[in-house]
Amino acid sequence: MSPLPTFSTMAPEAGLKKALSLSRPDIIEEVKNSGLKGRGGAGFPTGMKWNFAAAARAEEKFIICNADEGEPGTFKDRVILQEHADLVFEGMTIAGKAVGATQGILFLRGEYTYLRPHLEAVLAKRREQKFLGKQILGSDLEFDIRIFMGAGAYICGEETALIEALEGFRGEPRNRPPFPVNTGFLGRPSVVNNVETLASAACILQKGADWWKAMGTEKSSGFKIFSISGDCQKPGVYEFPMGITVAQLLKEVAGEGAKAVQVGGASGQCIPASQFERTIAFEDIPTGGSIIVFGQQRDMLDVLHNFLDFFVDESCGQCTPCRRGNVKLLEGVELLKEGQCSMAYLKELCALGETMQIASKCGLGQSSPSAFLSVVHNFRAEIMGRTPSHV
Ligand SMILES: Cc1cc2nc3c(=O)[nH]c(=O)nc-3n(C[C@H](O)[C@H](O)[C@H](O)COP(=O)(O)O)c2cc1C
Ligand code: SF4
Repeated sequence: MSPLPTFSTMAPEAGLKKALSLSRPDIIEEVKNSGLKGRGGAGFPTGMKWNFAAAARAEEKFIICNADEGEPGTFKDRVILQEHADLVFEGMTIAGKAVGATQGILFLRGEYTYLRPHLEAVLAKRREQKFLGKQILGSDLEFDIRIFMGAGAYICGEETALIEALEGFRGEPRNRPPFPVNTGFLGRPSVVNNVETLASAACILQKGADWWKAMGTEKSSGFKIFSISGDCQKPGVYEFPMGITVAQLLKEVAGEGAKAVQVGGASGQCIPASQFERTIAFEDIPTGGSIIVFGQQRDMLDVLHNFLDFFVDESCGQCTPCRRGNVKLLEGVELLKEGQCSMAYLKELCALGETMQIASKCGLGQSSPSAFLSVVHNFRAEIMGRTPSHV
């Protein structure tokens, strides 16, 4: 059975045909009504994003599909692209009609180069079938898609760094505002959406906003695709409704008895067993889809060391809170491991983490202290366990 049951049941191009029969505002209204929120992590309402880009005045606009998928523990976009590329390209074409863009770009993670021949073949077939190009399905819609290869930097998943990379510059985040919907690729209005968001939008056009809203919670409608790894017997890619509890999810993947679950990848929160009844939803524990299960045997300092090592490597270095802050947090974890971190210094590190959350320029530095702060909060006795009381 496919790990993506709902995507598998979609009738080919039914969403695109529906979109061709609707006006641009009506397409956006349908997506807005569904309550679809971006699946790339930040959860920005998709209909609103499309509306901003539609309202921007420009000769040229772009739809950019973010397939950089660099968050540790995330591998669902790879499976969506492998199994349902048509649905993703259909979603991009619908977005193109909705905002008035004629060009789409798939920004593909460098490590997914092996997917490129398959994706190019799907695009070529879509051109033959008149799902791309001029006069799509006999309408006046013009839209085409090209693939741009990423080069392996995590920061290039951040939408403005991604745009810099597309323009041929070093992948470093831009100041926001202006936002890409107004000033994006080549200074033109650009919608940047996650792979899953675009595939979901195609489903919503086909099945309607009410169908989508009937799943999930009031504030987090629909279903979500999860990448689940770590200490469970059935790791893999799963579709669950939004609002599933951590405990229910662990049961599905045979991970009961876990000590903690990292929701949202390295930049997410570490949830202890006492909170497994909490829900995975934008209003409770948000996630772009990465779930990492930690069994009882895991040392939470090893977990933090691994994550912070990653952030020290991947920080682009533009702003001080992130460039220096991640190094200081990593050193703090090393002190904790050596039993040399006093409670007073731990408090200072937490204050540093909180400062990084508000003072960093982009989402990397704003979210990199989350795991540290949640582990300190939820596993204080364990992480201070090696430090004698006189330190
Ligand atoms: C460091 C960093 C890495 C990111 N990586 C990705 C990524 O790989 N894929 C993705 O869709 N969004 C990623 N994002 C979020 C994007 O900036 C952006 O919010 C998203 O692509 C918007 O799409 P959505 O509205 O469909 O979620 C990342 C953000 C940050 C700060
Ligand atoms: S927060 Fe980090 S990744 Fe983002 S701009 Fe600052 S240094 Fe670069």
